[in-house]
Amino acid sequence: VMQGPLAERHVIVTSGPTHEPIDPVRYIANRSSGAQGAAIAAALRDLGARVSFVTGPATVPPPDGVEVIRVETAREMRDAVDAALPADAAVMAAAVADWRVTNAAQKKMKKDASGKPPALEMTENPDILAWISGLKKRRPGLVVGFAAETNDVIENATAKRLRKGCDWIVANDVSPETGIMGGAENAVTVIREDGAEDWPRMGKEAVARRLAEAIAGAIG
Ligand code: C5P
Repeated sequence: VMQGPLAERHVIVTSGPTHEPIDPVRYIANRSSGAQGAAIAAALRDLGARVSFVTGPATVPPPDGVEVIRVETAREMRDAVDAALPADAAVMAAAVADWRVTNAAQKKMKKDASGKPPALEMTENPDILAWISGLKKRRPGLVVGFAAETNDVIENATAKRLRKGCDWIVANDVSPETGIMGGAENAVTVIREDGAEDWPRMGKEAVARRLAEAIAGAIG
């Protein structure tokens, strides 16, 4: 039996990118490594939580000691989160694709005699953070979202917190000059109902530990 402030607590963490198919061999993706999500899952585990780690095709391996649920698309991620409920908290660290191809081809697309490239019609994906935040009976007691911003970080993230209906937003400045995107460090601002708190720049593992401790303080 796990010991620690989050013993007996179940936390869902989403992580990594999603892959949205174009045809059986091609997909749309993004550059998320899954590093911050994996570090958060490990830090929650270290505080004794049972962690359901719902991950897209990330480059960083999942931590040991968590339940790993591998998915590819945003819709699979939403269904996996749904199946993992109920939970005491949910941390949505995945970089979910905003759109998918409306009708992914069932067979590999081929060049044809016309030389005309195919047009991809796109449809909006489900917003998993907004969906889980809006649940009535099954809403986790604490829902944490992320916001990657390049400008007006606090203003944009505060608006995002209200729009998504989550409890906390962990916001970071991903402007190229910060070196944060794809780097080992992060400098975040945590937005709660009662205001914004700037955390000093530190390693992604340290951000994860501090966030896990804040979560333990809220639901432990
Ligand atoms: O709207 P935006 O993508 O900036 O919001 C980021 C937050 O929303 C992250 O916590 C991300 O995991 C979550 N999100 C989600 N499902 C989506 C899009 C974003 O859960 N389809």
